Amino acid sequence: MRHLLSIADVSKAEAISILDTANELARVSDGAVKKLPTLRGRTIVNLFAEDSTRTRISFEAAAKRLSADVINFSAKGSSVSKGESLKDTAMTLQAMGADAVVIRHFASGAAQRLADSQWMSGSVVNAGDGTHEHPSQALLDAFTIRKHLGLGKSDLEGLSIAIVGDVLHSRVARSNVLLLSKLGAKVVLVAPPTLLPVGVESWPVSISYDLDSVIPFVDVVMMLRVQQERMTEMYFPNAREYSRYFGLNSDRMKSMKSGAIVMHPGPMNRGLEISAEVADSSRSVITEQVTNGVSVRMAILYVLLTGGSLEAGGN
Ligand code: NCD
Repeated sequence: MRHLLSIADVSKAEAISILDTANELARVSDGAVKKLPTLRGRTIVNLFAEDSTRTRISFEAAAKRLSADVINFSAKGSSVSKGESLKDTAMTLQAMGADAVVIRHFASGAAQRLADSQWMSGSVVNAGDGTHEHPSQALLDAFTIRKHLGLGKSDLEGLSIAIVGDVLHSRVARSNVLLLSKLGAKVVLVAPPTLLPVGVESWPVSISYDLDSVIPFVDVVMMLRVQQERMTEMYFPNAREYSRYFGLNSDRMKSMKSGAIVMHPGPMNRGLEISAEVADSSRSVITEQVTNGVSVRMAILYVLLTGGSLEAGGN
């Protein structure tokens, strides 16, 4: 693997190898000394042309724990906001000797475009492109699910997972649908018809418009943020109606299976798609997703930049 652009390009074996490597690397993150010398002397550029808190600091922590040099390049204050083309940016990154570029961009396909350009020889990691994909988020979500519910199995065979809410605008949903189904889970999307994309019938999922009928049967309820900043039309009557039908509150949580977990990629709209009580409940693994994100991103950088993987039992 040279780039991580889309889960569509990642095989089941490659995904499992990244998750296993992350597992080994998590042991480093749990220790007192959190650093490995693996990527010493390598340069990783975080190119963020769209707002991000978690993903940016998570990639930065991951690169630093592997001893890489990190350059943070945010669009505000850079020439990207002055309209510099991706090609010119790529040439600049190449001139700086970047071994990998972690890119977040408002345009779907930006990471692919950077990887396809002849102007940069390093690896490209897609940290979220428009409404298209967010592969590292899907990998950290799969890692978190496997940790809680994998029962020692390497894949997610036999698990049922609901992805609930604003699927239309969610790159997290797209990457998760591809990855979780590749790993053997059954995925059901729950959303109002207005928040499902055209062509969703061809995705490897089932679809429901009724959250209450789905909740008692799934092992994971993954809530999505209502992405108001990407909404150009009225997709639902008002916030109260949305919460009433598609929000996860304590009442609904009561009908979840024992052992089932609640996830959210963040940032949350507390009170809209998820209530504060649910977000802070013992079923919620939301802060653990953030913790696991660092180990999974270490694994991604490790695999892309060293070409190797760390399997259980290795060092
Ligand atoms: C997501 C994103 O940016 O796509 N957040 C994240 O990376 N943790 C989801 C979102 O913004 O709703």
